[in-house]
Formats: sequence, structure tokens, C-alpha cells
Amino acid sequence: MSDISTQIFTSQPNGLAKAAETLGKGGLVAFPTETVYGLGVDARNTEAVARLYAAKGRPSFNPLIVHVASLDIAETLVEFDETARNLARTFWPGALTLVLPLRTGAGISPLVTAGLETLAIRLPDHQVAAGLLQAFSGPIAAPSANPSGQVSPTNARHVIDHMTGRIEGIVDGGVCGVGVESTIVATTPVPTLLRAGGIPAEVIEQAIDRDLAHAGESAAPSSPGQLASHYAPQGTVRLSADTVEDGEILLGFGNVDAEINLSKTGDLVEAASRLFDALHQLNALGAQRIAVSPIPEHGLGAAINDRLRRAAAPR
Ligand code: TXA
Ligand code: MG
Repeated sequence: MSDISTQIFTSQPNGLAKAAETLGKGGLVAFPTETVYGLGVDARNTEAVARLYAAKGRPSFNPLIVHVASLDIAETLVEFDETARNLARTFWPGALTLVLPLRTGAGISPLVTAGLETLAIRLPDHQVAAGLLQAFSGPIAAPSANPSGQVSPTNARHVIDHMTGRIEGIVDGGVCGVGVESTIVATTPVPTLLRAGGIPAEVIEQAIDRDLAHAGESAAPSSPGQLASHYAPQGTVRLSADTVEDGEILLGFGNVDAEINLSKTGDLVEAASRLFDALHQLNALGAQRIAVSPIPEHGLGAAINDRLRRAAAPR
């Protein structure tokens, strides 16, 4: 798959119109969201979705998130219970994906759900994503726009470097503000956190006034995409490093002397927004052994540590 010519679209109306037209023909188009860049495809077009799995080199049992332009459109695709509607009203547009029962006749390709009876859906909070959804006026399935197992892209350059020749287009919309993927929550049988992400679990628990179960606990739905070794940089990763060993490069957090620092002031929001770019930079530096400062587990720290644990997992 290295023979496709990849167009760069601007985030202006005529660029978005061309990007939407490309999606309509079954093309693969990367675009920015507030979390990370997504690799978009018409969620109703099975052949196009199959090409997307191939372009990412993704195991096909790993289902995709569908992006929509409004809660009304989401209601036509999935069944909202009271908790789900409350969450959508509170956090959409935003970095929350809801896993809900798929409606029969929704027209979503079975390859998007990988055969599950639920659909992961979200309304992104990004002007360019919103503009593209409007221009396309259909559901866009989009995993993060990186080759499977690699670091997610948070700017257009990351996508250009890794996906050129594999996809039809890239909408250049600058840097993603949040920097880690959306939080994924299922509401049945009980509200369950399937993936920590851009909206802290504590904030969601406050909104629904109850604790979230965690995937893996009994009665919790499974989240098939949580492969242990993911987000892998080229070097090995050692977590919670208070000291740096010979030959290691430090990915710092807080007031430490580090090659790359996620946030000198210990700000978790800033750290999340820099995380994936820092991992791309460590690859560019050829880092063989990466030590990472301890990062607190609260707020966005849960999502950051989740990604770093996967980056550190044996592969
Ligand atoms: O922020 C994000 O969520 C980004 C942007 C582009 O929207 N997208 C993203 O997609 O992170 P991806 O494909 O890298 O991750 C999708 C996750 C996977 O872990 C997958 O297993 C899970 O969503 N997922 C999708 N459908 C599911 C379902 N029906 N039930 C449980 N988990 C599901
Ligand atoms: Mg991903």
C-alpha cells in the first residue's frame, strides 16, 4: 500500500468540501479532533472500512468509533438510556465516547463494530472535525490516524510522516488541544469505564453521581481494543523513574532536569497535550531507553499513565 497519492486539504471550506467528496468516494481522510487526529472513512461503506483496517495494519477484531455532527444524529444510530443521554448532554461536544446498543437498520457497516451489537460513538469538539462532518453529512468512522500499535498523531506532521502513500488525504488543522484519546464509557449493564481518556473519570462520576465500574470487573462489557502493547515508541520504556540510569533519556514531569519535559510545572492538562508529540520526538532522537518521571494517577494522569503503561508493555 505505498502507491496511493495523498492529498493535503486545508481546513477552509473548499478544503473540507474536497475532503468530504473524497470520503464519499470511499477514500480515507485523516482529520484533526480535539483529542488526536482520526483516520476517517464513511462508516456505511464496508469496502472503504476494509481498506482502512488494511491501511492501519489493524487487527480486524478491534472496532472503530463513529463520529457524528449532533446528538440527534447519534440518536438515529444507537439507543440512549437515561445515563447515556445525561452524559451526552453534559460532555458533548467533547472527548467522551459512549458505547451503546446499535439500532437495527442504522446502516453502519458491520466491519465498524467488528460484529458487536454495540457502537462506540462521539461528537468531537473541534471546528475542523465539525466542518468536515457537516460537509460530508454522514457518520465518519475514525480510529486514531497512526499505523496500528504506534503512537497516536497530535499534529498533521505526525500523520504525513506515517500515513503518506497509504491514504487519500489529510486535512491539516494544526495541533490537537487535548492530546490523548477520548474517554470511553458504556452505560449498560452498569456505567463502566472502558478506556481512560481526555475527560477524567472523576468528572464523569460526578456528573452521573455514581462510581464507574472498570472494564475487567464482572458484569462489565469487554473492550476489545485494549491491547497491552500499544502506543509503542521504538525504545524501551521504564516508568516512575526517580533517577536516570546510564544510557537512558528522561521524559520528565515536573521540576526535573530532562531532555523532554511533559510539564515543568506539573500540569497534567499540559502533559496530556504534549505526551504523543514527546513520544514522536523520542523516536526522532533515536532514544533506545526511555525513563519516565512519576506522574500522579488523578485527573488526566490516569489517561497519561494508561498510555505509558501500554508503551512500556513487553512486545
Ligand atoms: O479520541 C478518540 O477517541 C480518537 C479520535 C480520532 O476520535 N479515536 C480513537 O480511536 O482513539 P481508536 O480506534 O484508536 O480507539 C477506539 C477504541 C478501541 O479501544 C476499541 O476497542 C474501542 O474504542 N471500541 C470501539 N467500539 C467498541 C465497542 N462497541 N465496545 C467496546 N469498545 C469499543
Ligand atoms: Mg488508536
